[in-house]
Amino acid sequence: MAVEYNPYLHEVQDNPYPYYARMRDEAPVYYNDTVGFYALSRYADVLAAHKDPATFISSHGVTIEGDEMGQDFLILKDPPEHEWHRRVVSRVFTPRRVGGLEPFMRAECARLLDPHVGGVGFDAVEEFSTQLPLTVIGELLGIPASLRQDVHHLADRLFTRDENGEGGPDADAARIDLAMLLHGLVVERRADPGDDVISLLIAAEVEDADGDVTRLTDEQLTFRTLELAFAGHETVARLVANGLVALSWFPDARRELVADRSLLPRAVEEMLRWDAPSHYQGRWTTRDVHLHGTTIPAESRVILVTGAANHDDRVYEHPGLFDLHRTVDTTVSFGYGAHFCLGASLARLETRIIFDEFLDRFPDYGIATTGVTRMRSSNVRGLANLPITL
Ligand code: HEM
Repeated sequence: MAVEYNPYLHEVQDNPYPYYARMRDEAPVYYNDTVGFYALSRYADVLAAHKDPATFISSHGVTIEGDEMGQDFLILKDPPEHEWHRRVVSRVFTPRRVGGLEPFMRAECARLLDPHVGGVGFDAVEEFSTQLPLTVIGELLGIPASLRQDVHHLADRLFTRDENGEGGPDADAARIDLAMLLHGLVVERRADPGDDVISLLIAAEVEDADGDVTRLTDEQLTFRTLELAFAGHETVARLVANGLVALSWFPDARRELVADRSLLPRAVEEMLRWDAPSHYQGRWTTRDVHLHGTTIPAESRVILVTGAANHDDRVYEHPGLFDLHRTVDTTVSFGYGAHFCLGASLARLETRIIFDEFLDRFPDYGIATTGVTRMRSSNVRGLANLPITL
């Protein structure tokens, strides 16, 4: 029987890897005619599509459902407009600003973890892996501490999808509430600037695609803030939870990492590969694409399945194994090329610090047999709850 892959189904989300293996081997240009999308699952094909943003564009949406199309997100812009919009954000979101946060991150880890030392366990997602990146991105952007939990819960509701790929009225309501909350912050900062990223984005002057010096509008600033606030915490929260699962399934790797922290950067890359938090990148074709004897017509939705590419045994030996000593440790987990993740260095730094601090305190943690739940979004993959035992 031919492989059937529907990423909205909970059964598929619970373990998509067998579907990925069959797609890579039997249907490298897979077509789902019920939902209406093509999927590329081999590493080489995913990478090649990332390298060709003129054929595989983003402005029709980066999810299968494409609900976000038309909104003013950076991730949805195509060249040449994308280039100057990206320049504005990269200019204020600098490695120096990010790197300077290390002492703050360590202090926040201590604040979140120390109360559990000597305890019996806690929810590693809700109480830790979400909170740390949420606080960090909140500090960077200048979102007051009193509003950060609201931002997190609204973002969760906004991106939840059911098994038909629909968010429903609750997602629509959350979108409006979140946009209003962040728009309020933009207006406040315009009147009373600080040294946070929102204030810097308001003040930034750039040359647009026509060579005119311009500034971002309030609507553009609201979307930029929403994008950074969401991407800045939801993905890291999932990567950490997926990593905690990996280290509990592979105790030898855990023991090695506990003993030798110089392995942390490799561990983070392997976590990104082993269970990528951003599981696919959606695109839209501008011309017919001929690949593996199949034609993807122009004007088609295509998803680049990052999670499948990262387990392609044409590239990675024994891809299901969590291996700290891989010879190939490049992945497409942060995308590639024009849209390469703007927060990659922040995400890597946070995850390294999180595991360093966590393993110092809880090297022998276990995972509870009940209470583990998965978040149900279109393209973010990871756990909503991970009760750990101490
Ligand atoms: C483990 C954590 C993260 C993962 C796995 C991840 C993954 C990705 C991926 C795959 C893309 C490319 C999307 C595409 O090609 O359509 C991307 C883009 C982006 N990411 Fe991340 N991300 C993470 C953390 C962050 C953080 C911490 C921030 C911000 C502080 C961030 C901000 C962005 C932005 C703004 C873009 C759009 C860039 C553009 O279109 O030019 N991400 N991310």
